[in-house]
Amino acid sequence: MEKTYDIAIIGGGPAGYVAAIRCAQLGMKTTCVDAWVSNDGKGAFGGTCLNAGCIPSKAMLESSEVFYRAQHEFSRHGVNLKGVELDLAQMQKRRAEIVNGSTNGIVTLFKGYGVDGYYGMASIPAPGQITITPSDGKTAMQLRANKIVIASGSTPIELKGAAFDGKHIVDSWRALEFTEVPKKLGVIGAGVIGLELGSVWARLGSEVVILEAMEQFLAIADQQVAKEAARQYKKQGLDIRLGCKLQSAKTARNKVRVEYTTAGKNESLEFDTLIVAVGRRPYTDGLFAPELGIKLDERGFISVDRHYQTSVPGIYAIGDVIGGQMLAHKASEEGVALAEILAGQKSHVNYNAVPSVIYTTPEIAWVGQTEEQVKAAGIAYRTGTFPFAANGRAKALEQPAGMVKFIADEKSDRILGVHMIGPYVSELIAEMVLAIEFEASSEDIARTMHAHPSLSEVVHEAALAVDGRPIHFVARRKPV
Ligand code: FAD
Ligand code: NAI
Repeated sequence: MEKTYDIAIIGGGPAGYVAAIRCAQLGMKTTCVDAWVSNDGKGAFGGTCLNAGCIPSKAMLESSEVFYRAQHEFSRHGVNLKGVELDLAQMQKRRAEIVNGSTNGIVTLFKGYGVDGYYGMASIPAPGQITITPSDGKTAMQLRANKIVIASGSTPIELKGAAFDGKHIVDSWRALEFTEVPKKLGVIGAGVIGLELGSVWARLGSEVVILEAMEQFLAIADQQVAKEAARQYKKQGLDIRLGCKLQSAKTARNKVRVEYTTAGKNESLEFDTLIVAVGRRPYTDGLFAPELGIKLDERGFISVDRHYQTSVPGIYAIGDVIGGQMLAHKASEEGVALAEILAGQKSHVNYNAVPSVIYTTPEIAWVGQTEEQVKAAGIAYRTGTFPFAANGRAKALEQPAGMVKFIADEKSDRILGVHMIGPYVSELIAEMVLAIEFEASSEDIARTMHAHPSLSEVVHEAALAVDGRPIHFVARRKPV
């Protein structure tokens, strides 16, 4: 007898597991199926984010930062350590424990909310039906569901000239789990992964060269912030080369030889290991046959309407697999919105208020439009910036690099975008996401009291700077 559910969700990443919990909270009989197999051969929920993305990368960024600071910064505080040593095995053990704790946490949440979780590869033979091939090789099983949600995520793009071999040419998952620090590490792609993982291994001692195809550095970010970031990364020894077109990457005698062209010249470099991080593609392999009629766009993302329904009634899709910003919090918000829509409620995601964060040192965070976008749209605007160097807390933290930049509409003063580079801006950005959600003006923030001494005062002062009236910095503009 086939089990029948109100909702069956394929994929237990931030989109799928959050949607499953919210569906269960709203009284729907829910199942969630995930094909992820961990290194120990066991199934795991949590998707890319918990198993091989957000969480393990942040664990490694934190550990490597502590190691780097112990060597280069502690003495500034008057803390002298002798013989700081790297125990990479312990660092990796800690990463794995954090990952396991997080993925097991989802099993507990599913139990608590009454979500039936299955480990296995799902496919959709027809609307309302799911076939699960269990990860442990047991016989396939069939389920029925009134509605099916695809949350199958994304996977790294593989370059033809630099195929992954899992040892010398690796994707971001493998790059989180090195058991030795590569002496010479190459990275293809100076995007978010390239910068975060390049930073991890550079702090642990690798000589890192990042080859980026585009001429512009961090084109997705506000260019004033990108410029400051490039300056800081250079100081840390990250060798980022722009306008480099990869020709080939070949492995021989335990080395990877990379051939590329730049400014019309052929160049080559040799690395112990090469990380390829050139973006991710939607993952729908083996999920449904074309005859089912689920429409994909030209890049393979599943097309959905504004209620996340695909071209086949009763089949929905959310998260990385539908495109847009490939971020865990965007995926989860879509999961919540869809669950509420399926329960008959009105719900939506505000795509103008999605925070972006790059967890390097300094951190980079933004929400809303960049100055380049505002300019291109022909909107009259004012900006206000304030440096962390003029903030007591940042100095106490020994992290005075960076700034906060506001962009506000000239006439209405409504905040159009806020861009930050500096310490803990991943946390500071939350206030600005709320400001954009509430359609606040820069004056609203300028009139809001911020604790002293705190990093949030930089946000406050940048808002004051829109009117040319920061207190702890002499503004060039006449104060209003
Ligand atoms: P996924 O997390 O990819 O989950 C999809 C799940 O579906 C997977 O578990 C997969 O096994 C399963 N699946 C696929 N097909 C099937 C099938 N047929 N049957 C059953 N199961 C299936 N985002 C952030 O917001 N912050 C960060 O700091 C951050 N760091 C990252 C670091 C790295 C190194 C990487 C690679 C990504 C990072 N991301 C980060 C991006 C983030 O991981 C993704 O945006 C997010 O995981 C997308 O969630 P999702 O649920 O749509 O897909
Ligand atoms: P990305 O899109 O951020 O960067 C890829 C980079 O590779 C781009 O700069 C691109 O120009 C470059 N590139 C493409 N082809 C190339 C080639 N042939 N040679 C050289 N350079 C080339 O993608 P990335 O870094 O792989 O990350 C994937 C996704 O994961 C991103 O969308 C990101 O949002 C998400 N992510 C988010 C994080 C966060 O929120 N902190 C952390 C890590 C990943």
